[in-house]
Amino acid sequence: MIELINKLEKEQSLTLAEYEFLIENRNEEAAKILSEKAVEKRKEVYGNDVYIRGLIEISNICKNDCCYCGIRRGNKNCERYRLTKEQILLCCDEGYPLGYRTFVLQGGEDSHFSDDFLCDIITSIKLKYPDCAVTLSLGERSFESYKKLREAGADRYLLRHETADKEHYEKLHPADMSFDNRMECLKNLKKLRFQTGCGFMVGSPYQTSATLAKDLKFIEEFRPEMCGIGPFIPHKDTEFSNFPAGTVELTCYLLSIVRLISPDILLPATTALGSIDSFGREKGILSGANVVMPNLSPEDAKQKYQLYNNKLSSGAEAAANKRMLEERMESIGYKIVTNIGNHKKGN
Ligand code: 5AD
Repeated sequence: MIELINKLEKEQSLTLAEYEFLIENRNEEAAKILSEKAVEKRKEVYGNDVYIRGLIEISNICKNDCCYCGIRRGNKNCERYRLTKEQILLCCDEGYPLGYRTFVLQGGEDSHFSDDFLCDIITSIKLKYPDCAVTLSLGERSFESYKKLREAGADRYLLRHETADKEHYEKLHPADMSFDNRMECLKNLKKLRFQTGCGFMVGSPYQTSATLAKDLKFIEEFRPEMCGIGPFIPHKDTEFSNFPAGTVELTCYLLSIVRLISPDILLPATTALGSIDSFGREKGILSGANVVMPNLSPEDAKQKYQLYNNKLSSGAEAAANKRMLEERMESIGYKIVTNIGNHKKGN
């Protein structure tokens, strides 16, 4: 194990079999060494800085029926909403004076989101806040559509690959969704020079050490600028409602490995991690994460954007409570910074 960790640190790469071994045989000692090395790397590139992103959940209407997700099309108990352009801009107006310099527009695959509609919103945000980055997280779209969004000024795009194993992907998604299209979208985003984020859930149903090894290999080869990794948490209105949640322990272990694969990656301590453990965000940062994404959505949107049971949106998770988040980060030796927080290339 120690040898593998040293190899990973030095070469930023392992074979699939080695990744699998590292996951399968993990223990407290390995986790400790990995997190220490991950923190060392993150400090070389990003110091003690923690970047913040204001998350705006712009719609929970979705044409997809992903088996794990609370806002899946088939969930009749989900009360649907979509924010107007004015409401979205108001979220930015609230976030800017608090120090947010990245706005993440996240939503389901809502067919109301035409290119024109989105480009208009992106242009308006960029006009009003030219020193801010706009990140989109709106699912799969065509190359032409991504191109228009990029030309309108969007800087970054988050599209979790969910799993890098095709068979596993097909167990998490209905037949009308395609692994190949997901991968194609990610490649297109890169081609268009979006700072691109992929990612996956930890402990999703049918996940194994072998599928996780493929996730790690994919990250190693795809070289995303960002990567969202959080525990799977069951949602009561999905067919996965009785599956157990992923663990903090494995999530943090994987965060450390990803930091060693890619020392300069932007790696959030996710809301899901904060939702299953009251100290989850801090544990994520202490494992090598360097980003947090507090929620800037209007209160009733927060209540309705339920991807999983008991999703956190209050306390330090609320963008308005930035001071609380600052204190929590300071208590573990880190500092929230309010610059744009771009990816530091070439490290
Ligand atoms: N548990 C954890 N994460 C989830 N997501 C969706 N549903 C769940 C769940 N039940 C994640 C997916 C998606 C992102 C927006 O939220 O990975 O890409």
